[in-house]
Amino acid sequence: MVIISPSVLSCDFGNIQRDVEMLDSSNAEWIHIDVMDGVFVPNISFGFPVLSAIRKHTSKVLDVHLMIANPDHYLADFCKAGANILTVHYEACTHLHRTISEIKRLGMKAGVALNPHTPIDVLEEIISELDLVLIMSVNPGFGGQKFISSASDKVRKIKELINRENSKALIEVDGGVNLETGKLLVQAGADALVAGSFVFSSSSPTDTIQSLCEL
Ligand code: DX5
Ligand code: ZN
Repeated sequence: MVIISPSVLSCDFGNIQRDVEMLDSSNAEWIHIDVMDGVFVPNISFGFPVLSAIRKHTSKVLDVHLMIANPDHYLADFCKAGANILTVHYEACTHLHRTISEIKRLGMKAGVALNPHTPIDVLEEIISELDLVLIMSVNPGFGGQKFISSASDKVRKIKELINRENSKALIEVDGGVNLETGKLLVQAGADALVAGSFVFSSSSPTDTIQSLCEL
């Protein structure tokens, strides 16, 4: 079954405890946390205090997606705030191997995200070190954007690389996921799907999560 990682970016921030408790009682295995700094992406979301607050209300895996410049400065702080998986952008890391090694040394799982324009080949030399590859199916920065359909082919290509290099990395896809696009991604080999607006704008988020799990 595919892992579903609902994104709290689309929750009601005035009722964040209620919404996190709802996710905690759902069949989602992970909870996706989007951290944006207004530099790497043209939007600002939230940081450590909000992540720590979320951590208090769930025992699920916190799948933290850093859309920030200079992530190296904050890796230990994200660990302390409760991140289980820490994903950095390839495009934001000059010394990616060092960053990945440090995330793992701190005891977290390490992921790398690729923007829509970034080819998968750039991960060839590091794929065996990764726990997760996050394929962006929108340009990062905002929830509710339209799915970029070339993401399915990209999932197929990264799956080939993972198999070829005997990597244990999981493939997660982020952006514009609904039942239709999610199905294509699962067929292409995705192990995990992020879903924000599709889950939170539905009349029953827990039922929507269940339907996504069954794809
Ligand atoms: C976009 C974020 C996503 C976002 C997805 O920059 O990385 O995680 O929350 O939102 P939807 O599912 O609405 O496209
Ligand atoms: Zn994300």
